[in-house]
Amino acid sequence: MSTPRLVALLLACGTAHAAGPNLGQPLTHAELAAWNIHVLPDGTNLPKGTGTSAQGASVYAQKCAHCHGEAGKGAVSAALVGAPPIKSIDATKTIANFWPYPTTLFDFIRRSMPWQAPRSLSDDEVYALTAYILAQNKLIGENDVMNAETLPKVKMPNRDGFTPRFPNLMPPRSGRDL
Ligand code: HEC
Repeated sequence: MSTPRLVALLLACGTAHAAGPNLGQPLTHAELAAWNIHVLPDGTNLPKGTGTSAQGASVYAQKCAHCHGEAGKGAVSAALVGAPPIKSIDATKTIANFWPYPTTLFDFIRRSMPWQAPRSLSDDEVYALTAYILAQNKLIGENDVMNAETLPKVKMPNRDGFTPRFPNLMPPRSGRDL
């Protein structure tokens, strides 16, 4: 191959590389948004919607109790209610004795539960289930409404129980009461 043709080929390869491998078709922002469901500890990206413990109780009985037990007491899968004291590294860690943020509960349920049908719940159902589990753990009142405003304000018992490796990257410990 002559030198100018080789240079032209290399330049063409360079351009193709910069533009990407040209596979598939680009995602639109709307398509991406449907997959982008992460909720940050401070509540960033929580969706619209609302739910109460009473609404959550009936969804729970239908869609969760056969694995997590009546009223979240545990069965074939983990208990969602209860806070046995953590006395050693091997202790059972639960939502109420371990999880530092209430928003993680929403995120976890929405993306992965029920186990056999993840992402099948509406956002209202997820808020309601979150309210139900928090109320059963006595972390909110029976009639408290959970939504994008109220959920991040729920104080989890173990909120300050962690020593972060990079404290400057963490949301504030106090001041803004997460
Ligand atoms: C078919 C059984 C099954 C059903 C039904 C089910 N789960 Fe789960 N759930 C699991 C399993 C298994 C895990 C452990 C998952 C893991 O560790 O990755 C889990 C974990 C969880 C956790 C985390 C608990 C912890 O302390 O780590 C929550 C919260 C939860 N499920 C909520 C729900 C809710 C709410 C429903 C109803 C919408 C539900 N699950 C329905 C099997 C189930």
